[in-house]
Amino acid sequence: MRVWIAGSGYGSGRVMPAEEARISLFDHGITVGDGVFETIKAVGGRAFALTRHLRRLAHSAEGLGLFPPDLDLLAGGIGEALAANPEVDPARVRVTVTAGPGPLGSERSGESLTYAVAVADFATPEPTVDVAVVPWLRNERGALTGLKTTSYAENVRALDYAHRRGAGEAIFANTAGNLCEGTGSNIFVAGPATQGQLATPPLSAGPLAGITRALVLEWFGGEQSDVPMSALAGLTEAFLTSSGRDVQPIRAIDGHVLADAPGPLTRKAMAVFAERSAAEMDP
Ligand SMILES: Cc1ncc(COP(=O)(O)O)c(C=O)c1O
Repeated sequence: MRVWIAGSGYGSGRVMPAEEARISLFDHGITVGDGVFETIKAVGGRAFALTRHLRRLAHSAEGLGLFPPDLDLLAGGIGEALAANPEVDPARVRVTVTAGPGPLGSERSGESLTYAVAVADFATPEPTVDVAVVPWLRNERGALTGLKTTSYAENVRALDYAHRRGAGEAIFANTAGNLCEGTGSNIFVAGPATQGQLATPPLSAGPLAGITRALVLEWFGGEQSDVPMSALAGLTEAFLTSSGRDVQPIRAIDGHVLADAPGPLTRKAMAVFAERSAAEMDP
């Protein structure tokens, strides 16, 4: 596997074998998780929804108070990393920008950013997924709410919790007792609590502004409304969205099997997303 790095002694970017890539142990991304990232799907060497991903990366960096990342440099680096790994298809493209070398404490040095692009195989998602609700809450008013930062260990912990219970994704409630999101996915639901309509938590509930979520809302529809956690038991159908899963039906929540997986709304959303995303590489 070949990776692309810029900053941190690599200037304006270089492709090299992954084993040769070196990032300082003083990099603030490593010492305190002071960085932002994106996960992008690439098919045939082309990154899907690249403009939206770069825009969100810039938003995350601004929210974290980082210097604005050079998005043209990154777009070039993504292209170079994909061209250097043509056998990886579909590819999971991981774009990371950190605050760069810094002190061992939380204060920043203000030196240059570190940029990295790595690729790996994007595993084909399972046809359905079971989810487990975790006992920890998403804080919809936190400093990092809605930002895709490298401080992701809460998600690692939650996903491990779900895996130990035989589930493929963990679901967070927020501090208001409403549905929020998964560790790496957004959630859409339908049932009596939503009058049978498709609903997804609004951004004010604290989820990441998922790109797949936004495309499903634009291409297919759905309400953005708060869903109390108590409504989950009565759901008739539900699905997850993410760059790797696209639209993935939820089969069971905490062992409670939903009536339909995929249900009728999910099936339509899957079909519309498959058709539109195949037709538009950078929607
Ligand atoms: C916490 C979180 N929520 C939602 C998503 C889904 O976002 P997207 O559709 O842009 O991949 C992700 C992506 O990995 C995520 O990390």
